Amino acid sequence: MKLNNKVAVVTGAGSGNGRGIALSYLREGAAVVVADINEDGGKETVSLAPEDSRVISIRTDVTKKDEVENMVAQTIKEFGRIDILVNNAGIVSFTPFLELSEEEWDRVHDINLKGPFLCSQVVAKEMLKQNNGGRIINMTSVEAHVVVSSSGNCQPHYNSSKGGLTMLTKALASELASYGITVNSIAPGPIETPFTEMGLKNPAIKKWILEQVPVGRVGQPRDIANAAIFLALDESDFITGTTLFVDGGWTVK
Ligand SMILES: NC(=O)c1ccc[n+]([C@@H]2O[C@H](COP(=O)([O-])OP(=O)(O)OC[C@H]3O[C@@H](n4cnc5c(N)ncnc54)[C@H](O)[C@@H]3O)[C@@H](O)[C@H]2O)c1
Repeated sequence: MKLNNKVAVVTGAGSGNGRGIALSYLREGAAVVVADINEDGGKETVSLAPEDSRVISIRTDVTKKDEVENMVAQTIKEFGRIDILVNNAGIVSFTPFLELSEEEWDRVHDINLKGPFLCSQVVAKEMLKQNNGGRIINMTSVEAHVVVSSSGNCQPHYNSSKGGLTMLTKALASELASYGITVNSIAPGPIETPFTEMGLKNPAIKKWILEQVPVGRVGQPRDIANAAIFLALDESDFITGTTLFVDGGWTVK
């Protein structure tokens, strides 16, 4: 098993990509903390874990520093350390720029960008104490790099939050490299999760999406999980500050 004796915190692991990563990490021998604001989703992920897994669910709102600190303290109490943090929790919303409210702008940035800032800072301080390096993996998007607006579905606030997270990845990679902590991003293309459910149910949107993907299929959470395993390996220690696109080729066109 590739992640034996590692302890991982995966935010937003009560659904979709985060759940896929949490279950894959467990299958690779890691202990996993499912940190999600949706307690029921978190419990469901735990119920899907292989028998004898070391896994707990901690209800956490990643936008609240006290909740993040509490989640990290509980993780240390339960598993003794943290080796891997996956900042996966995120939301999408579709509103054109001219109609975008300040509240919606703040909400998307709070979850997609401030959340990773808070979780990375609190976890990195623990990693420094452990003095054994670490892995931080941020879930960005192809939409940090290109604007995708099918049928007028504009999302400037989402683009901006994920673009910000891409740059935060590079800044933290630079600051934390001397401690042996690598910081990388995964940029998914269209992945079949509750996040994309509505769009993929619409035949016209699904057809349009498939036309953008050279490999000719929509991605699955296991595609993201495979990338998250790779970036978490000890052997990946010379890879930092980069983005691994898992998009079926969307961004090469
Ligand atoms: N599915 C895709 O096509 C796709 C494409 C590009 C990027 N992404 C990114 O992948 C990540 C996961 O998306 P998904 O498709 O699995 O979506 P999802 O909606 O299935 O899962 C998101 C999870 O984040 C949790 N969450 C939301 N706000 C939170 C908060 N404040 N604190 C803690 N948890 C919170 C939700 O409860 C949910 O369980 C997101 O960052 C998203 O931007 C997804």
